[in-house]
Amino acid sequence: MKLFAYLPPLPPFLFAALVVGGLASKALHIALHIHSLPFLYFVLYSPTLIIPDLLVIAFVRVLLHTPSPETKLQWVTTALGGLLSLIVWGASSIQFGFFMQTGAEVAWAASNSFLSDPAAMKILLSGISTVSAAATVLGLIAWLVHAKIYHWTGLGLQAIRDLLSGSYRARYTLLGVPSKSWMTTMDLRTVRRIAITVSICSSLLFLELTRPSVPYDHLSGALPLTLLDAFTKKSSTTEGCRQSPMKFPLWTDVKTGFMANSWSRPSWLPQNPPPGFSRYEHSPDERAEKDNPSWYLCNDNEPGFYNPKTDPLKISNLGGDIYGPLKAAFDAHSVEIDHVILLTLESGRKELFPMQQGTPMFDALLESHAKEDREEAIDRLVTMTPVSQMLTGEYATDSKGEKVNLTSANWQDPAEEGMGGLNVRGALTGSSLTFKSILGSHCGVHPLPVDLLEETGLEIYQPCLPQLFELFNTVKNPNPTPEILERDDSASEALKNPWKSVFMQSITDDYDRQDVLNENMGFKHKVVKSTLTSRKSKYRAKGQEINYFGFAETELKPYVRDLFEEAANNKTRMFLSHVTSTTHHPWNTPDDFAIEHYMGSQGSINHNLMNNYLNSARFVDNWLGDIMTMLDETGIANSTLVVIVGDHGQAFGEDNKDMTGTYENGHISNYRVPIVFRHPHMPRINIDANATSISIITTILDLLVQSHSLDARDSEMASSLLPDYQGQSLIRPFIPYIKDGHDTPTENDSDVEARSPRKKSHHKGGHHHTRYNWNFGIVNAGGSMVSITAAGLPYRLVLPLKEGFEYAFSDLNKDPGELHLVKSWTMADLVDDVLSKHGQSAAEWLEDAEQVGKWWVNEQRRIWGYREA
Ligand SMILES: *[C@@H]1O[C@H](CO)[C@@H](O)[C@H](O)[C@H]1NC(C)=O
Ligand SMILES: *[C@@H]1O[C@H](CO)[C@@H](O)[C@H](O)[C@H]1NC(C)=O
Ligand SMILES: *[C@@H]1O[C@H](CO)[C@@H](O)[C@H](O)[C@H]1NC(C)=O
Ligand SMILES: *[C@@H]1O[C@H](CO)[C@@H](O)[C@H](O)[C@H]1NC(C)=O
Repeated sequence: MKLFAYLPPLPPFLFAALVVGGLASKALHIALHIHSLPFLYFVLYSPTLIIPDLLVIAFVRVLLHTPSPETKLQWVTTALGGLLSLIVWGASSIQFGFFMQTGAEVAWAASNSFLSDPAAMKILLSGISTVSAAATVLGLIAWLVHAKIYHWTGLGLQAIRDLLSGSYRARYTLLGVPSKSWMTTMDLRTVRRIAITVSICSSLLFLELTRPSVPYDHLSGALPLTLLDAFTKKSSTTEGCRQSPMKFPLWTDVKTGFMANSWSRPSWLPQNPPPGFSRYEHSPDERAEKDNPSWYLCNDNEPGFYNPKTDPLKISNLGGDIYGPLKAAFDAHSVEIDHVILLTLESGRKELFPMQQGTPMFDALLESHAKEDREEAIDRLVTMTPVSQMLTGEYATDSKGEKVNLTSANWQDPAEEGMGGLNVRGALTGSSLTFKSILGSHCGVHPLPVDLLEETGLEIYQPCLPQLFELFNTVKNPNPTPEILERDDSASEALKNPWKSVFMQSITDDYDRQDVLNENMGFKHKVVKSTLTSRKSKYRAKGQEINYFGFAETELKPYVRDLFEEAANNKTRMFLSHVTSTTHHPWNTPDDFAIEHYMGSQGSINHNLMNNYLNSARFVDNWLGDIMTMLDETGIANSTLVVIVGDHGQAFGEDNKDMTGTYENGHISNYRVPIVFRHPHMPRINIDANATSISIITTILDLLVQSHSLDARDSEMASSLLPDYQGQSLIRPFIPYIKDGHDTPTENDSDVEARSPRKKSHHKGGHHHTRYNWNFGIVNAGGSMVSITAAGLPYRLVLPLKEGFEYAFSDLNKDPGELHLVKSWTMADLVDDVLSKHGQSAAEWLEDAEQVGKWWVNEQRRIWGYREA
């Protein structure tokens, strides 16, 4: 009983929790953005930022005005006030917990989709310890100050009430009874107080009305009002019908007119094509009417449809020559591709594939070690990923500049010297949300710039790899015409075997509709967490679950081996898509995996997360060694193309102190990924290209055709489909830009200039002669930002798509680790800043990038036929 004596009365305590939680949340909110606010303006407008908080506090204080309620009404108001306080306390704790884990802010608007998703709930719950820590600290502070806060606010409100009634009295006296003695009925002090209060209020009001809405409206949002975002509709930019096409902003000789005019059913398309080919089966008009007649009606211009012939951003390199050594290998018929494996490395950063010196990341890792320990640290780090070294042919050097000894790796590359395939350097992912990125690599499409996997409700606008293989299957055994038989004479029997597409991952596939996505992409066979835990499964998982999604990849080993054996012995052509999982947050590895200490203890941040990540990367490197060994052992290594790509990167405190993780973080370390096309009989070629994973499907198709790995009919289909994909083929030199001689400035060019006053002074429209291969990277969760780069140029823009996010610019040549971003709340300010810090051509590029980016976002919605719910 004695304990209760120390407990405060509940209402004052809850009220204090509201005040502390609300103000702390506001302080965090402002602190996260303060670096981008002009100092003077910030000082000027800062009082207006807490007006909503003060109103909330006053309102709840009135509700809770008595510490021990007696009447029914008092009970109701107290309960309501208490509930609001609890909500604010809880929400503020979540914000701090989330911030401590990721450095980012919670976007309540996205919480809707998370709350309805069990796997997503697990992610949230994984942070429960930091959230409860935050809640405890806030609660403790509230407990310490509750009496004072409750008392003072009570006095404050009373004073305001007195003032109001005083002013009422004053006015009443002034207007009602013209009396010479009104001064005596109200003392001078009250009048002065009223005057001061009125002037403070009116200047606050004036500031509030005159302050720029961006970013101050966003910054002044107060709990619990901001929680309402979760219940409002997603911020909508499309209404009624689908987006109508926007005029392409940069160059002017864009082809118009849509496919309907010239549309005809391709001759190679079988009578009943498998899913994924409706674009080829129905004309755009038919499709639009079939899909949703109303969209078509309110959009008389062009129905949702991807038309490669009118895509102003498409640059095709299919007319270019194949790299010489590769061509020679194809001509000698020495590259046989019966099977394809597409390995998607979860959080697979290029800097770790392989880990080697000379990247901003490597330097940051070394910084964590004392000077005298650095040589040893280098030697430990460069042996971290031996298999990746062999797969890429990028051999790391140690602290003495010598090649690392790889003999202790669990796989040795049997390929001859100089053989191994293509290794792309300079690639970026199309999205830092895993499954959006997978859409790009498996289907060659740009994902939708909206939150989460909304694509699952729509038809993917290009056929995906499993659908292509299914297309080949549909025409495998019909009665071939004599003509085809004749052409096929030379083709080996193996080319007639049917393809089997299998998807494997050791974690759950029910997170954010991934199972639906896989079905939509055409996978009919899968091995996922539910397979590993099912009573009926052939090989049940033996180990512990290592993260909130499921098991370590190694649980898949017997399934992978079976599949390889089936491919080797059972006359099937295998397509295996596998996504790794251990490299996902929180980067746990199985207990029997020995943890290395890669990180030192220097610097102000905790290096444990990075250390776990590096260990998980070594675990996956080892797993890749297992896969490669199984390919060798089952005898299909010489006829298997292994494609490796990172789904996205992963930003840590070592990369950027301000913000970690992929969620709503546009930092470059979330975008650099490896892309490898491994085949032991393809010559080793390093490709320096700013390509994205959208090039993968084009390259696989091109490889299958050029290496004579398809029979005549399949080859014909693949060749006609190839030019329709947006990505360039990486077996031919990548074209970063085209200099167009005949694109002289026209009236439309001056339109562009008129829209942009800055351009008038220094921009003659001349650089529009150059068409860049623009690359886009959607920022996780999808709808808030997109990163924009142009191949061959070092500039990068992160373009916000919603309120509450800033514009950011960087020059990756000068600042490869993006340590000195130029950030701003408005495009105009950003251009000014970039003009002064990076010069004119950067500023010009920036203006183009913004326009192209906005056009692209709009165009994606059009192509996908996306309409917001
Ligand atoms: C590499 O290391 C192994 C032992 O792990 C050793 O036997 C071998 O001689 C070394 N090779 C070279 C070239 O140093
Ligand atoms: C091999 O193929 C046959 C039919 O094509 C099938 O019944 C059998 O299950 C397959 N074997 C394996 C190991 O997959
Ligand atoms: C694979 O090719 C290599 C030549 O690169 C050859 O030595 C080896 O025997 C081949 N393996 C099989 C299983 O055919
Ligand atoms: C790719 O982009 C980077 C900057 O992000 C640049 O340093 C590099 O030179 C580019 N590579 C090519 C081949 O354009």
